[in-house]
Amino acid sequence: MTSSIVSVSKETRVFPPPGEFAAAARVGSLEAYTAMYRRSIDDPAGFWGEQAAELFWFDAPKTIRQWDPPKARWFEGGTTNLAYNCLDRHVAAGAGDRTALIWEGEPGEVRRVSYAELLRETCRCADALRKLGIAAGDRVVIYMGMVPEAVIAMLACARIGAVHSVIFGGFASDAVRDRVNDAGAKLIITQDGAWRRGKIVPLWDNVEHALRSCPSVEHTVVLRRTGNPITLSPGRDVEWTDALATASSQLEAVPLPAEHPLFILYTSGTTGKPKGVMHTTGGYMVGAHVTTKYVFDLHDDDIYWCTADIGWVTGHSYIVYGPLCNRATVLMYEGAPNHPDVDRLWEMIARHRVTIFYTAPTAIRAFIRWGDEHPRKHDLSSLRLLGSVGEPINPEAWMWYRDVIGGGRCPIVDTWWQTETGAIMMAPLPGAIAAKPGSCTLPFFGIVPKILRQDGTEAAPNEGGFLVIEQPWPSMLRTVWGDDERFRETYFSRFPGKYFTGDGARRDPDGYFWVMGRVDDVVNVAGHRLGTAEIESVLVAHPDVAEAAVVGRPDELKGQALVAFVTLKAGRAPTDAVREALAEHVSAEIGKFARPDSIRFADALPKTRSGKIMRRLLGELATGQAPRGDVTTLEDISVLAALRGDDE
Ligand code: WTA
Repeated sequence: MTSSIVSVSKETRVFPPPGEFAAAARVGSLEAYTAMYRRSIDDPAGFWGEQAAELFWFDAPKTIRQWDPPKARWFEGGTTNLAYNCLDRHVAAGAGDRTALIWEGEPGEVRRVSYAELLRETCRCADALRKLGIAAGDRVVIYMGMVPEAVIAMLACARIGAVHSVIFGGFASDAVRDRVNDAGAKLIITQDGAWRRGKIVPLWDNVEHALRSCPSVEHTVVLRRTGNPITLSPGRDVEWTDALATASSQLEAVPLPAEHPLFILYTSGTTGKPKGVMHTTGGYMVGAHVTTKYVFDLHDDDIYWCTADIGWVTGHSYIVYGPLCNRATVLMYEGAPNHPDVDRLWEMIARHRVTIFYTAPTAIRAFIRWGDEHPRKHDLSSLRLLGSVGEPINPEAWMWYRDVIGGGRCPIVDTWWQTETGAIMMAPLPGAIAAKPGSCTLPFFGIVPKILRQDGTEAAPNEGGFLVIEQPWPSMLRTVWGDDERFRETYFSRFPGKYFTGDGARRDPDGYFWVMGRVDDVVNVAGHRLGTAEIESVLVAHPDVAEAAVVGRPDELKGQALVAFVTLKAGRAPTDAVREALAEHVSAEIGKFARPDSIRFADALPKTRSGKIMRRLLGELATGQAPRGDVTTLEDISVLAALRGDDE
């Protein structure tokens, strides 16, 4: 086996920031970015001290950064409160009437919540939590849909120093139980049910079932949203409106030490039990604030929409904390993108005059599959900036996003980061850095990414390797909840003293980073270690293909043989001729050695609930095994059954 990962990408297109965009941007040239970046690396304490000073502290930080790998401490001696910075600070500055949230329910109702109102409701929720016995350091699970009360619940926890753990509303009862128990949560905030594609997701039923084996939970607070019948236990369960009715709308924010835990968010490794990634108050706050400001180039008149769910880190950092501490106006949507029809999002962009739109490649590929006519029906001219996160975006999807959604005029910020990093780590600052389709371009301020070989030496330009981060950054995870050893082992043992991301990547001669996906998603064909994402990207560039996943299966001759799972665009028939054409296409684009040995057609691919393709499952299918590992994160279990039956 050779030590590096071979990159086969041939992407060469470059899109400089449009002149008009750059002229009005917060960072308007590559020189300006480079100067700020250099400063952030040469004088991290000076740079981050200034960033922290843009926010409110009860006591100013004394030591900016302490680094004793793998332990980092930021802004020591400082006390602050993230809810204060998201709410009180703006109201005190006279912006209380400004709209914080424009919320749209799936059935269509629209609710506008001003900063003053969000502050009052957050105080009332925080006071209600206190009255239910919650104090600083206690864990509170939030298992809700995309409603304003979910944001209020998060901010209420932050206000009193309770540690929230948001569990995505799509998880089933067992997943809730495991996460509640791992965190030792005292209280669960939930809903009777959540709307999803016109149906009710029975959140309360799942909680009630989980509660049979969650001894740490003392109370639940239940919001009525859908009106489906539920039975509450008096003494244990209380309705949201009752709990808040007698609570105070003026509760002072508690000054918290910078390193006070802010939240735990469980992230599923492909194997093993989920890890409770823990973030703390001061560093996370500064990271979320500064990245939102510069990467999304936020201006006062923006209407900002991130389509993530608050159950994922993207929702934490870029629906709630980053935008609100920047005083943004955030559009929040409760439901599915294809309800009542596949043009729902485009219709909403036109109606709310959205200016910044941030979504995931998996969603973009679905939009492509549904057809261009849907976005083309709507006036998307209010958009000025697009974003992508969650997976490598294949260049064809990037181009479609740029042309069809962005009208050829909007820069795209392809943002690379992780639950563990808390905030965006690499992305083109849209007024400063030229984009290349499929590259997250250059590091954000203060971030030092490197590409390493197996032996820890630095890879040459364009040589694929392991992506690590060398210096600490404020919003990095501090530990895995309750398991310091797992934290060290997972992130700091592969390359001692350096944070290992688990991703493979290369850096091109311009210094641009190209993330190739998880290193577990690497195949070794005849001595070439290939990132599967690049082969997938070539497949998706074929006009018949909507989505593709490539995995390896053991092969005596080649080490691994390539198996491609392909979903065709609507209306395309899965014939042998198409199969042959696709195999030829890959040979022509990458080389004969990358020609898939087998191509299987599928109506859908197995994905996690955050939209990542579960290649591990496909790998097991490709080798003819029954899937073994954890499938609790699988979005739609029927997809798996269909794939199993569909051997060629
Ligand atoms: C992948 C989501 C390429 C990557 C914020 C990372 C990406 C994992 C990108 C983290 C991107 C995310 N380009 N790959 N722009 N963004 N990834 O924890 O493999 O849900 O390690 O955080 O998603 O996923 P997570």
